[in-house]
Amino acid sequence: MTQVEAERLVELAKRRGFFLQSAGAYGGVSGFYTFGPQGAAMKRNVEATWRDRFAIQEGHMEVDAPTVLPEPVFEASGHLDGFDDMLVECPECGESHRADHIVEDTETGIEEAESLAPERIEEVIAEYELVCPTCGTGLAGQAIEQFNLMFETTIGPGSSSPGYLRPETAQGIFIEFPQLAEYARNQLPFGVTQIGRAYRNEISPRKSLLRVREFSQAELELFIDPEVDEPDLSAVGDVSARFYPAKAQDCEGGGVIETTIQKAVDNGIIADPWIAYYLGVAAEWYQRIGLDMDRFRFRQHRPGELAHYSEDCWDAEGDVSDPGKEPDWIELGGFAYRADYDLSKHDAHSEEDFTVFKQYDDPVTVEKPTVDPDMSYLGPEFGGAAGDVADALESLAEDTPDAFEGEDVTVEVGGDEYTVPVEKTGFAVEEMTESGEHITPHVVEPSLGIDRALYTALDHAYREDEVDGEERTYLSLPPEVAPTTVGVFPLMDKDGLGERAHEIADDLREAGFAVTYDDSGAIGRRYRRQDEVGTPYCVTVDYDTLEDGTVTIRDRDSTDQRRVAVEDLAATVEALVAGEETFATL
Ligand code: GAP
Repeated sequence: MTQVEAERLVELAKRRGFFLQSAGAYGGVSGFYTFGPQGAAMKRNVEATWRDRFAIQEGHMEVDAPTVLPEPVFEASGHLDGFDDMLVECPECGESHRADHIVEDTETGIEEAESLAPERIEEVIAEYELVCPTCGTGLAGQAIEQFNLMFETTIGPGSSSPGYLRPETAQGIFIEFPQLAEYARNQLPFGVTQIGRAYRNEISPRKSLLRVREFSQAELELFIDPEVDEPDLSAVGDVSARFYPAKAQDCEGGGVIETTIQKAVDNGIIADPWIAYYLGVAAEWYQRIGLDMDRFRFRQHRPGELAHYSEDCWDAEGDVSDPGKEPDWIELGGFAYRADYDLSKHDAHSEEDFTVFKQYDDPVTVEKPTVDPDMSYLGPEFGGAAGDVADALESLAEDTPDAFEGEDVTVEVGGDEYTVPVEKTGFAVEEMTESGEHITPHVVEPSLGIDRALYTALDHAYREDEVDGEERTYLSLPPEVAPTTVGVFPLMDKDGLGERAHEIADDLREAGFAVTYDDSGAIGRRYRRQDEVGTPYCVTVDYDTLEDGTVTIRDRDSTDQRRVAVEDLAATVEALVAGEETFATL
């Protein structure tokens, strides 16, 4: 989409009620958008398809956690310390910018500048004499600040209990893991989904819905036993998509590979089968909500981009440029193998146990090194440190039983070394029967942005053509996500046509369709209005309807029309929406 077309889409979105910048009456607020009637309906439909594909069809649970969580949650998750973007402030106009974006958007040739150290960004800014995008003043010499993206608040009066608006829905799932595991009868694998708002105080929100400060995420956290659980790849093995592996991004002439999920795994393009599985599920879903799969790809993170806990990560990306122009790829979703990072962190920081008990098929006999320190020796010998020395001996026996092979054993407590005769440690190796063990599940996470998916679906559906010598704009949205399924118009609001059209509209609503009734202006105008909001079918009630009980049904994309008996109308629309019938064969 060219800049001009992008502006036309944003203009259409506002005029027709998809989305608009919030608080316009107060000058507008950057990074916050209100979904109007069309946008809210479309968003609901997009979320419903995600719920259907990622939760219902996969047999996963869904939760709805608070958007404000207390500080310790984000201390444990690492967001408090590390959820930062690099900020550079213009010395002249005072505008704040994302320093990595300034580096990427200019002639440096550097992509993914986010992975560079702030010192390196400062060097690049000086080397290329980069300037403030707002006023053109040179930014060389300006310090790069790490800016935490979380919105802070206080929970209750006073400041003793800080809280944060969640920057991702995921933490609301992780912190409830002990209870969620109970609901899943402690059986791995199990998945928990959530669709909800997330908040990031972006330094420079941009491109309308694409980088905002409040947005919706749809996330699935799949908890697995990494030693035994495997996905059923055959379910998505035939799904075809474009893949852009890390190696291809780094070598000259490296390109995108179009292949199936199964072949991508067989050929080593995707290393982890779980990631492959969800790329397949996601490709089906993005296609279902109307993305043009020729303008869609999966891009693997390069080593420098990977979060420290993530072993492999792929992004779903959509091109929001005009077809045929230089692509403008935006990240639509992330697919990460997060290993045991999240659960281990919450296990370490909280009072709860974030493991599950894994029962063995048959009990096993194991040798277990134990200690039973002689406190009548440790007490007088080490005074106040005796208890800690005993604990240190216990840990050492578990981790390094060989250390007890000599006459003495040495442990470190608080930086000091304590040497104990082995005979005073009560060291022994006992045989024990164990029926299972506690393991920390690994997490596979598809995390999709709803606003970006919705925007890209609108972008890919945006069409301009000519009908009866007149220019028209229409949105070729799939019926399942279009805000309205059927527009119902009386040819004129007289001779009983209006009453009959109202009855037909009511019957269609009762059958479960989203219906718009419109009796104002010429029929051609009414068609244009529905075309612009992507309504796939319009029904016109005319004098023949009163005579023979038929109506005209019109297809948005082809503008073809057919006559259908009113009594068959709901079934016909249902078959068209479900793809069981096509307009051409009606
Ligand atoms: N739990 C993992 C996580 O939050 P992320 O890549 O930071 O991963 C997931 O976010 C998705 O959320 C992104 O792929 C994107 O679609 C959406 N998203 C993130 N920041 C956004 C923003 N400022 N505006 C709109 N969507 C955003």
